[in-house]
Amino acid sequence: MERLLDFFVVIHTNFCYNCVSENSLFQLEEFMPSSKLDELNARKVQAMLGGGEHRIAEQHKKGKLTARERLQLLLDEGSFEEIGMLVTHRSHDYGLEKQKFLGDGVVTGHGTINGREVFVYSQDFTVFGGSLSETHAEKICKIMDLAMKVGVPVIGLNDSGGARIQEGVVSLGGYADIFLRNTLASGVVPQISAVMGPCAGGAVYSPAITDFIFMVKNTSYMFVTGPNVVKTVTHEDVSFEDLGGAMTHATKSGVAHFACENEIECINQIKKLLSFLPSNNMDDPPRVEPRDHSGRQEEKLNSIIPDNPNKPYDMKEIIHAIVDDADFFEVHEHFAQNIIVGFARMNGRSVGVIANQPASLAGVLDNDASIKGARFVRFCDAFNIPLIVLEDVPGFLPGTVQEWGGIIRNGAKLLYAFCEATVPKITVITRKAYGGAYDVMNSKHIRGDINFAWPTAEIAVMGPKGAVEIIFKKEIEKAEDKEAAIRKKEEEFREKFATPYIAAERGYIDEVIEPASTRLRLVRALEMLDTKVDHNPKKKHGNIPL
Ligand code: HXC
Repeated sequence: MERLLDFFVVIHTNFCYNCVSENSLFQLEEFMPSSKLDELNARKVQAMLGGGEHRIAEQHKKGKLTARERLQLLLDEGSFEEIGMLVTHRSHDYGLEKQKFLGDGVVTGHGTINGREVFVYSQDFTVFGGSLSETHAEKICKIMDLAMKVGVPVIGLNDSGGARIQEGVVSLGGYADIFLRNTLASGVVPQISAVMGPCAGGAVYSPAITDFIFMVKNTSYMFVTGPNVVKTVTHEDVSFEDLGGAMTHATKSGVAHFACENEIECINQIKKLLSFLPSNNMDDPPRVEPRDHSGRQEEKLNSIIPDNPNKPYDMKEIIHAIVDDADFFEVHEHFAQNIIVGFARMNGRSVGVIANQPASLAGVLDNDASIKGARFVRFCDAFNIPLIVLEDVPGFLPGTVQEWGGIIRNGAKLLYAFCEATVPKITVITRKAYGGAYDVMNSKHIRGDINFAWPTAEIAVMGPKGAVEIIFKKEIEKAEDKEAAIRKKEEEFREKFATPYIAAERGYIDEVIEPASTRLRLVRALEMLDTKVDHNPKKKHGNIPL
């Protein structure tokens, strides 16, 4: 925290906040300078101050950076081109006509991140709590429209109390204008939201439509209504943190994809995420010069699967072993940990990895895991990012919680997402591929391009124990030693079905591979699929089971 505060001091001084005193446009007019250029400069200085020094100090005291400080960290040095710095609100109610601040609570424009163009908006909590007025909304819409024409990502740094209450329906209309643009831009340009303060009401719905949400621990909150309203309506006593803090949304609701320790980490993570993504849906993801050897053998993978099929292992070890430089950028790390999703590179090209995690709930597919996986698959498919699936899944999780929670509908989301995806799709079955989950996890039948299996793969309708208890029920009941009879039948079943070879004989598996060679096999498959073209039937849009 101390280091973060030092940082504030450095950028705070850079901005020359002390050039003018507590501000409002009206004070500015009192000392309007004679030269035209001086006038412009004075206005710029005024705009830099947002809601004024006192409120900036308050913002820093809360452990938060200002809207401009955040942009300075996010964008390449000197690349920011501001749009709409001199905009003010048009409201005449509740004395607002006497309080105008240049920029009206949001800094908008474009710049570069590692040399690539992006559009940005950064809400300024020091001006009416970053609340959204008619003109504030217009500024955001303007840069979104430009981003769509130019075909580059939009990054929103949100710090807002929602609709500006004094503006009433005009402010609600402003939100709706933004929601419409978020929706139209979805799948055309990447949209990234960072929530960097208390975001309420409309301020949470725009991020919710975007592709990724970052939150900062202890300073950012998202809720439709805050703790006070919750207490009035449901009589629940709940803190800001428990209701809508970063970890609440990263673990419980799944609304946040990333929960960062502080704002600097958050901004660095946004840059890293962006490095895997294309600028738009017609573009290929950026390729980097690979440093890692494409043919690197990983001998340890030959013995990573435990002899006991019920023993867990950590799928992340496999991911780290096969991707470039062991560099895996995990998305939704804390939510539905039984499935792992994230970005990596294979021989310099971006890939999306979806993997079952045997170390969490045995890697089973449940409601949350299905939704998490489906959303990630659809993002990658929308933005031309090939998919690598690492599969070890004992099936869908049974039980009333899951059934009543809609596992049929939610599991179908993942199935639908894999079925409709037309990007290169490669599967590696490391161990279990049981039941419907075999079909779902990018099987050959739903257009998996290359489907590998390790010799340890078990591909069957269900696990040996469950299977023999059903198909040999009568035989087992008659046996003198029931336990011994079950064991014998289980062994027979395991030998016959719990292997990759029946699937390989039918061509459902293209090749059974030595685990140590997985990286090379994947790199070659991806090279081969580089020019892949596949289409879905022409339609307005599909009807994914939401
Ligand atoms: C106008 C607002 C404001 C708002 C905050 N402010 N929210 N002004 N409209 N929505 C102003 C405050 O009056 C205050 O001004 C300054 O911003 C800082 O606010 P504080 O309350 O002092 O800050 P803090 O204690 O940190 O609390 C932040 C907060 C709280 C949790 C965001 O301000 C809050 O609950 N605000 C209202 C949230 C809300 O209900 N919004 C409307 C949602 S309805 P001064 O001058 O004193 O510094 C909505 C509809 C859209 O958004 C729905 C679309 C689907």
